[in-house]
Amino acid sequence: MSRVVIAGIPALIASMLLLPGHANAAQCSAAATPAQQTAAIHALMMRMTTAEKLGQLNQLGAQGSATGPKKQRLVGEAEIAAGEVGSFLGVRGADQTRRLQEVAVTRSRLKIPLLFADDVIHGYRTTFPVPLAEAGSFDPDLAERTARIAAVEASASGIHWTFAPMVDIARDPRWGRVVEGSGEDPYLGSLMAAARVRGFQGRKLSAPDSLLATAKHFVGYGAAEGGRDYNIASMSPQTLYDVYLPPFNAAVKAGVGSVMASFNEVDGTPMHANGMLINGLLRKQWGWNGLVVSDYTGVMELLHHGVAANRGDAGERALRAGVDVDMVSEIYAKDLPQRVASGHLPLGIVDASVERVLVAKCRLGLFDDPYRGSDAARERASILTAEHRHAARDAAGRSIVLLKNAHDVLPLSKDIGKVAVIGPLADEPWAMLGNWPGDGKPEDAVTPLAALKKSLGEQRVAYARGTGLLGDDHSGFDAAIAAAKSSGVVLLFVGEGPEMSAEAASRSSLDLPGNQQALADALAATGKPVITILLNGRPLSVGKLADASSALVEAWFPGIEGGNAIGDVLFGDVNPAARLAITFPRTVGQVPIYYAHKNTGRPPSAGEKYTSKYIDVPWTPLYPFGYGLSYTAFSYGDLKISSTRIMANRRQKVSVTVTNTGMRAGDEVVQLYLRDEVASVTRPVRQLRGFRRIHLDVGESRVVEFELGRDDYAFHDAAMHDVVEPGRFDVFIGGSSEATLKGSFEVVSTR
Ligand code: GLC
Repeated sequence: MSRVVIAGIPALIASMLLLPGHANAAQCSAAATPAQQTAAIHALMMRMTTAEKLGQLNQLGAQGSATGPKKQRLVGEAEIAAGEVGSFLGVRGADQTRRLQEVAVTRSRLKIPLLFADDVIHGYRTTFPVPLAEAGSFDPDLAERTARIAAVEASASGIHWTFAPMVDIARDPRWGRVVEGSGEDPYLGSLMAAARVRGFQGRKLSAPDSLLATAKHFVGYGAAEGGRDYNIASMSPQTLYDVYLPPFNAAVKAGVGSVMASFNEVDGTPMHANGMLINGLLRKQWGWNGLVVSDYTGVMELLHHGVAANRGDAGERALRAGVDVDMVSEIYAKDLPQRVASGHLPLGIVDASVERVLVAKCRLGLFDDPYRGSDAARERASILTAEHRHAARDAAGRSIVLLKNAHDVLPLSKDIGKVAVIGPLADEPWAMLGNWPGDGKPEDAVTPLAALKKSLGEQRVAYARGTGLLGDDHSGFDAAIAAAKSSGVVLLFVGEGPEMSAEAASRSSLDLPGNQQALADALAATGKPVITILLNGRPLSVGKLADASSALVEAWFPGIEGGNAIGDVLFGDVNPAARLAITFPRTVGQVPIYYAHKNTGRPPSAGEKYTSKYIDVPWTPLYPFGYGLSYTAFSYGDLKISSTRIMANRRQKVSVTVTNTGMRAGDEVVQLYLRDEVASVTRPVRQLRGFRRIHLDVGESRVVEFELGRDDYAFHDAAMHDVVEPGRFDVFIGGSSEATLKGSFEVVSTR
């Protein structure tokens, strides 16, 4: 077995060993200084064989945990004891993780603890609204709170590392994974990314209730051509740097400990082989030295991309690009040893990745306590508590968007009499749990039907499923119509099943699946007011559904307390205030359609034929980014800008007075957009550069103040320099991306 002496280290180790009270050099303590940790890790690495080193870079999935094409083979304790695996994906539960960890720290030669990773995306056992919904709350503190609760629960179950937050900007709702991110806007996406990193990682990574967070999928995954999952991403460098990279940079600045490479290529180079963006930009330029993990079989897929002739080539390209951990391909562990032995792959490249894996384990405190205090008792005490359920209900209520409310039909009176609860999603627990439910269980979920029966009483609820999510079966229509006719109002729950959303669930249409629209039309024909609640994972072209509905509520996949939260909104216990974090097209033919678009040389104009628009549908969206209604109303006025001319490096203050002019207290999401009128390259017609979710009582006014600075004006020019160019900037403030209250100022310098 080869031993590796890392030049220059022995003296440092010797000095380390002389430190009073120093732990065994093979032990790396989370309490030690970074220099001491590095020295301890190097001391450990000096004792490791090449096979043991590559074993640390090998991540296997627990049986049955496949989230990709490869089925998991049963990994026995023998592999762990042999030091052939460094981390697991999908192993859950205090007992299960303790059992495997005990094998690693008692029977392997060097007793290096395992890392346990899982997709804790929007909650662990207490499932919260899907990230796209939560982003619509425009409340980063909420995102931090729910991530924190997820970390408390998952860590109690022995999980150390979550593959979240997903921070991919997405502007094509055909792509199923729009549900997992924060929508179309880099500014909102960056704030949500940082909040979720803070929530997952807590104040210090070594705390037993902290998780190592992962910013994923680096980078450009959401730009999949055609919205078809795993497809290529082609874009200008400016778009890459000004749209898709900012949320990753925000996660790095928030201290994210891990990044996951994405399946896609960017302009011809698959991300799992993209050393320029991983080692060059992420590590060298941004100064980040965390752990990069491949996506599921992403290393092997370099063969399919056609940039590697064999598994060894694929493994070597990925490792040289900076992908430290090989998720499930087993190429690093099985195909690279001979590459190292032959000298084809320098051991130093392996060592760099091994060090990052071991440092992550050290920072998590795994060398101090491989179990991090996870046990069955703590697990039982931490999971699905009343407090967590309350937080889930609050999160869902803050994430529900009111899209239409004709004649203020909502909120309903609790004395309303009988209601008809209809639709394929009225009693579907998986539509509450969403697409990455973690350890969430359908029996935990409160469906809308269950919530309404509980709040109104069984005798006041007439339920009829009406139809399914797919197909054209009308056999349930009559019962649904009868239920409607026997009630004062129809509550219709339609949308998508969670299996129609998220990974490997791209759709070529944005229409309501199946014959749900026909059901809505039949119910509208009864003359009863139809209140439609959408449960879905992507923007849908629901213009006809809105026409058939007196009110339209976007509830997304709202989490285990979704049914209760929907009831809270329908009956006014919660005044909805969430906004859309992604544009709703009128039709899929408009895609991509997003608010921060360019003006073009022929901006759309109804009166002029030769302008950029469609001849068969308006060029405007069905519902714009940032849009959402309330049960009250707000007015904006008194826009003030502190300086009409300002240096780019000085803080510009913008304020506006917002008043609740309606009959109910409520939250308003005050949004500030900027437009750079003239620049050396074209600039979007407006970009979100500030928002505040504020609560106002009836008649209350508040001055809301924003600060602008260099980062708000900066962009990448044609030469890819990060620049601010002097010129006039327009400010728009209001309750959506169509805000009209306008002011302007001049930036007079480039610094
Ligand atoms: C999946 C997803 C990724 C997830 C990983 C592990 O393919 O792309 O987001 O974290 O595999 O489940």
